[in-house]
Amino acid sequence: VVDFDFYSPPGGDQDVHLAWKRLQEEAEGDLVWSTRNGGHWIFLRAEIIHKAYADYKHFSSQMLFIPRERGEAYHGLPNTIDPPESLEFRALLTPGLAPRSVKSLEPIIRKESISLIESFQRRGKCEFIADYASKLPVSVFMMLCDLPMADAPALKYLADQVPRPDGSMTMEEASRKIADYLTPYLEKRRATPGIDLLSKLATGSVGDRQITFDEAMNLCSNTLFGGLDTVSVTHGFAMHFLATHPDLCRLIARDSSIIPNAVDEIFRRFAIASAGRLVQEDIEIAGVTLKKGDLVLLPTMLHGLDDRVYPDPLRFDIQRAVGATSTFGNGHHQCPGRFLARTELSITLQEWLQRIPEFDLDRSAVVRMISGQVVAIDNLALQWCV
Ligand code: HEM
Repeated sequence: VVDFDFYSPPGGDQDVHLAWKRLQEEAEGDLVWSTRNGGHWIFLRAEIIHKAYADYKHFSSQMLFIPRERGEAYHGLPNTIDPPESLEFRALLTPGLAPRSVKSLEPIIRKESISLIESFQRRGKCEFIADYASKLPVSVFMMLCDLPMADAPALKYLADQVPRPDGSMTMEEASRKIADYLTPYLEKRRATPGIDLLSKLATGSVGDRQITFDEAMNLCSNTLFGGLDTVSVTHGFAMHFLATHPDLCRLIARDSSIIPNAVDEIFRRFAIASAGRLVQEDIEIAGVTLKKGDLVLLPTMLHGLDDRVYPDPLRFDIQRAVGATSTFGNGHHQCPGRFLARTELSITLQEWLQRIPEFDLDRSAVVRMISGQVVAIDNLALQWCV
């Protein structure tokens, strides 16, 4: 039993991955019960985390958020329902995010990436989160859904309130505001569909009927949370690390063929999400009985940081054969946006390091990390010589 508040783990504001790693190292077993946030289990080891993501029969997605009130308030599709129902909704989403579709987006993503970098390159400094990380994935998402680019910042702010609420509104309020924003677009797309992702979600079939307006809304807003926040956050952790590892930057700038390995290792070392699950029947895990109705948190970072799978797991090793991680979940709910996320990060590494091969943290600014079910870097001031 631990007193571990995953919304503010000890030392998490300085290094959130280390804060999680300490919990894994200090625990006596493979899972712990945290008394915080209404009480819930936390799985600590790669094997049980990975299996639980795929085992929807024992670990239902009905309660994706913890504490319970947050889980009950969230109705995103397809991730708050279990197979087989979830699969029909998911099928509307996957073609638009499949490798072939993402490949066709590559030139637009590259153009946007270059344009953002060149907008501040001559300044010799930037606030990476505000100037790049929160802009690129949002622009890509707005293009994917054919939404007005000018709305991106406001929508990003609302989307951030779900994984990491800043106290300005409840999850219900954030969800309602997002629904208010999307309503006119969804209505328009249902009447006259285009070829964008939003149109496909708004007009798709579920079984032998058309998707309802409310279902389409839940599907769209959920995709929005996935698309706007996670990629942005992963970029933050990647560039924070690269800024203090010039040798690695030089290596990637010299030889772009190692980018796929670098990206795999970034996803392993800096996984960001922890999904919640609801126990469906009493089950024994690593010698401990979990009761029906208990909540479980599955921190994907503790898969990547597990020394039983990855020797010296805190070390970033470009040669490491990473294999299957839980960074994007596992099984029937595995992230359909993972190809897009990989493409965006790969393009960033390539285009950034070609233009700014050497850069550093601005040591006068304090980097603050934020905890929650998606962890993040709040601010990242970078500088380089021009
Ligand atoms: C680095 C970036 C990303 C990470 C780390 C990430 C992580 C995850 C994880 C761990 C899950 C599984 C959740 C669960 O099983 O409960 C998931 C599901 C999902 N993600 Fe992502 N994601 C990323 C990018 C994206 C993008 C770019 C999109 C869309 C544009 C997206 C859309 C979704 C959707 C719709 C689901 C739910 C799938 C289902 O329930 O069947 N994600 N993501």
